[in-house]
Amino acid sequence: MTEPGNQNRIEPSSDVRPIGIEKDEPAFEPPGLPGEVEVFNDADVALDRLAGEIVVHALECVRRFGDFHLALSGGGTPMPLYERLMIDPAYRRMPWRKTHLWIVDERRVPFDDDRSNYKHIKEIIGDHSDIPSNQLHPIEATRDDADTAYESALQEALGWREKGQDRLDFVLLGMGPDGHTASLFPNSRALEVDDRLVALNDGPTVVPPDRVTMTYKLINASRLIVPLVLGAGKAEMIARVATGHDPVHDLPIKGIHPIGGRLCWYLDRAACGRD
Ligand code: 6PG
Repeated sequence: MTEPGNQNRIEPSSDVRPIGIEKDEPAFEPPGLPGEVEVFNDADVALDRLAGEIVVHALECVRRFGDFHLALSGGGTPMPLYERLMIDPAYRRMPWRKTHLWIVDERRVPFDDDRSNYKHIKEIIGDHSDIPSNQLHPIEATRDDADTAYESALQEALGWREKGQDRLDFVLLGMGPDGHTASLFPNSRALEVDDRLVALNDGPTVVPPDRVTMTYKLINASRLIVPLVLGAGKAEMIARVATGHDPVHDLPIKGIHPIGGRLCWYLDRAACGRD
């Protein structure tokens, strides 16, 4: 995968942005996070706007490249977003047939284990969209070579793209209360992996079970990275990321820096410490 240079930013064409979704402007200064910050009065509006953003971005990528490479995180925050994308008629234009669905990180458990991120994402999206089965890319996390196998799958699928565009188009991230993202946990060995796209991760700070995760190298090469952080439970960590001087290895989400792409946080007021 070539390191992207100065890529043209994809500007959503106005004719594809879903109508009828009013941007919900909070009356306060957003937290000083790196990149762009979208703050909404409540989670419902945040999810609506983000669903619309995904559709807009997908349609633009399909128009430009013929496909759309989308990487999704697990955890509880994004599941309502995935359900909304599947159920709400406002997002029926999502080009699932042209979408490649990747998993940001996975627990090293079988697919039928309730801790499997892919299990939940497949149940919501894979089983109910017309995404071709060969464009669903689960991490086979119980394999000894789970990291290199997934890296090869990414390189093969993205390798068809023109130079500089051979990267993920949209990466949806979450943030744990400890400042982890993907399965990049504080002071864990995957933080140090700078020459691979996917890494295994384990150790005392990695919430069990052991993990397989996209690395900073892969995530930061993406076209658009969106951390979705909602709820008062994340407010303290959002404030630390925005104002504190914690080193990246203590708060791994601080290591997310797009190279030639965009970083855009989607937050609700509660995650910004507002009532
Ligand atoms: C996972 C996720 C992880 C998640 C955060 C936030 O495998 O658990 O990829 O990085 O995004 O832990 O999880 P919540 O959304 O449940 O708070």
